[in-house]
Amino acid sequence: MVLLGPPGAGKGTQAKRIVESRSLVHLSSGDLLRAERSAGTELGKKVASIMDSGQLVSDELVTEVVLGRIREEFERGESGLLLDGFPRTISQAKDLDEALAGLDEKVGKVISLKLADEIVVERLVGRRSCPKCGRVYHIQASAPKRKGVCDACDGELVHRSDDTEEVVRERLDVYVRQTQPLEEYYGQAGLLSEIDANMAIEQVSGEIEKDLDLAFDN
Ligand code: AP5
Repeated sequence: MVLLGPPGAGKGTQAKRIVESRSLVHLSSGDLLRAERSAGTELGKKVASIMDSGQLVSDELVTEVVLGRIREEFERGESGLLLDGFPRTISQAKDLDEALAGLDEKVGKVISLKLADEIVVERLVGRRSCPKCGRVYHIQASAPKRKGVCDACDGELVHRSDDTEEVVRERLDVYVRQTQPLEEYYGQAGLLSEIDANMAIEQVSGEIEKDLDLAFDN
């Protein structure tokens, strides 16, 4: 399945819940690219300034990384993946369809999380995440017990370099121009459901689960 939605809509938050309830593997293109940056690879160096500016990394680079991982997961025997942040352009979606067809697989469901711009800004400017275990907090809505320290692993929490208000607004603009057209692409294929992401985390998960029941449990 594919999770679409503007930055801060809660894709990562929901993905962590869905992969547990459905035994899927979570593949986040943003996390894969950030891991390259942390490891100081050539690819990581190439994409750093693009990510910090809020623009999209080139289709060619990101597709190579993500499709490589998808192939590895299926070769390892995994039966289902949740893609978070990929595809993000029509070109990436077409490459994904082609690669999956080659593996005798296909996209089974696409959920688009909807959230107003002002709420996105509030969520991301207040987001803090743990680079060690990936847990995500919000300084007001879901603060850690000790300021700046992860409850789960004692890691030092970070504010992502692309979570400043200026860059978040740029990311929103990029989303509308380059990613939103995917709603039509997947809508025409009969795969899309839209969900209001401005509800409590558990309520959003409940709505997603209902759609997944309809798509996969018949
Ligand atoms: P990426 O890492 O994919 O970022 P994004 O799509 O902008 O999404 P975010 O991770 O910011 O938000 P999210 O929706 O996961 O929200 P979260 O759950 O954390 O991409 C980063 C960059 O990498 C891109 O800009 C681009 O440069 C590059 N890139 C990645 N993929 C690419 C691709 N395919 N092609 C080209 N370039 C690519 O939640 C946010 C906050 O809200 C948290 O604090 C959370 O606690 C809180 N929250 C969540 N849900 C709720 C709720 N229901 N109520 C209240 N608070 C909530």
